[in-house]
Amino acid sequence: MTDDSYQIHTPVLLAEVLSCLQPQAGENYLDATAGYGGHADSILTQTGNYADSVVVDRDARAITTLETRFKDVGLAIRHEDYYAAASHLVEEGRQFDMILADIGVSSLHLDEAVRGFSFANDGPLDMRMDQRVATTAAHLVNSASEDELINILARYGEEPKAAKVARLIIAARPLQTTAELATVVKKAWPGHSRVHPATRTFQALRIAVNDELGQLERSLPLWHKLLKPGGRLAVISFHSLEDRVVKQFFAEQGGDFFDASLKILTKRPLTASATEIVSNPRSRSAKLRAAVKIKTK
Ligand SMILES: C[S@@+](CC[C@H](N)C(=O)[O-])C[C@H]1O[C@@H](n2cnc3c(N)ncnc32)[C@H](O)[C@@H]1O
Repeated sequence: MTDDSYQIHTPVLLAEVLSCLQPQAGENYLDATAGYGGHADSILTQTGNYADSVVVDRDARAITTLETRFKDVGLAIRHEDYYAAASHLVEEGRQFDMILADIGVSSLHLDEAVRGFSFANDGPLDMRMDQRVATTAAHLVNSASEDELINILARYGEEPKAAKVARLIIAARPLQTTAELATVVKKAWPGHSRVHPATRTFQALRIAVNDELGQLERSLPLWHKLLKPGGRLAVISFHSLEDRVVKQFFAEQGGDFFDASLKILTKRPLTASATEIVSNPRSRSAKLRAAVKIKTK
């Protein structure tokens, strides 16, 4: 990846994000997962408020890209996970008109074999979005107990044969590469299947290595705090486990009860149009939920 890779990256559900967030001139913005900066660029171009806005990513390459894209405009670019960033922003007493979290992996991770997210591109079993963190997928695969592996595979991968896959992994240890792991998982699912059987195991390990659901569960209440009254929050998720967490938080805060603190803008999650899916196949699984803060809690 080069630092100008943002020029070929298309942000998902951009029109839908803009219609939910409704950026107005002068408003400030927090992007919790800025990535290549595609959404951020569109929003900040409309508001013109760089100086009071913040973009965050836990991936060092994303940060380099953001620094190139938003050079000399006074935008704060933070290399942190979004939960740490939100905690710091709450401590600093900051508030925002708009917050976007476009969570999950980006092509930045999947396309680089060395990052170890993909079994299509053989690489080391890494999967860390933030390479400053100690635990890699190899650590989990090679040192977790059988029960821990079963739990990770069943909970985060919804793998129906979690026990069998865990046993096969343990018998084949140590495993070092993504292709080795994919070959072992395939043994639990002989015969043809539409989706490669290792897909669920890779999702599970990635979620565990990056504490993806924990980050989301802990951050939603902080993002809520960080919104000004009338501020808008949009979250794009890429699998049902994440979407469930967002849906539940919105339901708790945004029902019809008298002290609801969010007005839900998306009764059902917004998804990509057929045209967007053709031009950007990864948008197929994207789900956008958005809400407006109706009062301070
Ligand atoms: C789908 S990409 C975002 C793309 C971005 N919206 C754009 O328009 O270019 C997701 C990004 O979120 C980052 N990310 C995922 N989980 C994160 C977390 N917990 N904290 C901070 N960044 C995270 C990833 O490193 C990745 O760069």
